[in-house]
Amino acid sequence: MSIARPMPSTTNETRPSLLASLLAPIEQELAAVSQRLQTELRHPDPFIDELAQHSFRLGGKRLRPALLLLTAQAVGEVNDSHRVLAAVVEMIHTATLVHDDVLDEADIRRHESTVNARWNNQTSVLLGDYLFTHAFYLASTLETTFGCRAIGRATNIVCEGELKQTAASGNFALGRETYFEIIEAKTAALCACCCQLGAHYSGASGRVTESLKSYGNHLGIAFQIADDLLDLEGEEHVTGKSLGTDLGNRKMTLPLIHLRDQLNQDQQQQLCQLIEQPTADNFAKLLDWLNESGSLQHARTVAEDHIDRAVAQLTDLPTTPALKAMQQIAQFVTRRNH
Ligand code: IPE
Ligand code: IPE
Ligand code: MG
Ligand code: MG
Repeated sequence: MSIARPMPSTTNETRPSLLASLLAPIEQELAAVSQRLQTELRHPDPFIDELAQHSFRLGGKRLRPALLLLTAQAVGEVNDSHRVLAAVVEMIHTATLVHDDVLDEADIRRHESTVNARWNNQTSVLLGDYLFTHAFYLASTLETTFGCRAIGRATNIVCEGELKQTAASGNFALGRETYFEIIEAKTAALCACCCQLGAHYSGASGRVTESLKSYGNHLGIAFQIADDLLDLEGEEHVTGKSLGTDLGNRKMTLPLIHLRDQLNQDQQQQLCQLIEQPTADNFAKLLDWLNESGSLQHARTVAEDHIDRAVAQLTDLPTTPALKAMQQIAQFVTRRNH
């Protein structure tokens, strides 16, 4: 469920075109991934065809295929296995979004109506399954099983994360450790897997592959913290998705956890009431409180710390345009507004 929120005043420093410029070294490869996704999911049944195309129509940021392809380039050359896997990870990611929008009762995704809003939850469940299974079918067409196995494990961890989050809904006492466990599972695991696959299928050593996997993991953690901040402070017309859904679904994210942990019992009760009744008015009060207490800034600092840790994993790589893009994308993750 998303809630009515007052218009926030965010800066316009990160525009979609900035990300596009960072992805220049793999622009053509990414265009080929989009093309492949479209053709791969064409179906003679008009209903299935429309649904599958709907999820990819305006695309998203394509961050996961980008991570996979840039990592491949940073240690070697992009090959056909990478191309297949790049489509696979985007399909998996999109499937998780289709299901996540049911869980969060969200109306907008990628600047379009969500599948649950335009059709219904049943259709979303089935479309998500359809995309997951198609992705695994495609991964199984590779000559080796490494990719399919790694993606299977990562997707399993993503689902664990979403399950843990669902169990934690409404738990005002959610511990900081558990929050990090959830975001590492639901978001960082797939980013880590993308970098692992890019490196592995370029023939990188085990040590380099592990470093790049760790880059993806830290980047993914920072990405989710930034996403949780956007859910509070972002603008829907820029993100292209429903915001305020974390609060609407009583999810404790890092800024709220940080604020709660500074408060005495009476204040905690006040905070709990604001969270329990997320009207537009209470939302504005909560946002002021999060700002004044330094809790929004705290979350930004933690995200930036993970970005530093991500970038530190890249020190042994040769200087290439792909490496530069990976460093810049890491910085983009915490500064983005979409
Ligand atoms: C949204 O991911 C889900 C999260 C992990 C926060 P993205 O922000 O990468 O979504 P798209 O692919 O750009 O739509
Ligand atoms: C979901 O996190 C991450 C997934 C693994 C799908 P969110 O619920 O915060 O993602 P958005 O904000 O809906 O994109
Ligand atoms: Mg969501
Ligand atoms: Mg979110």
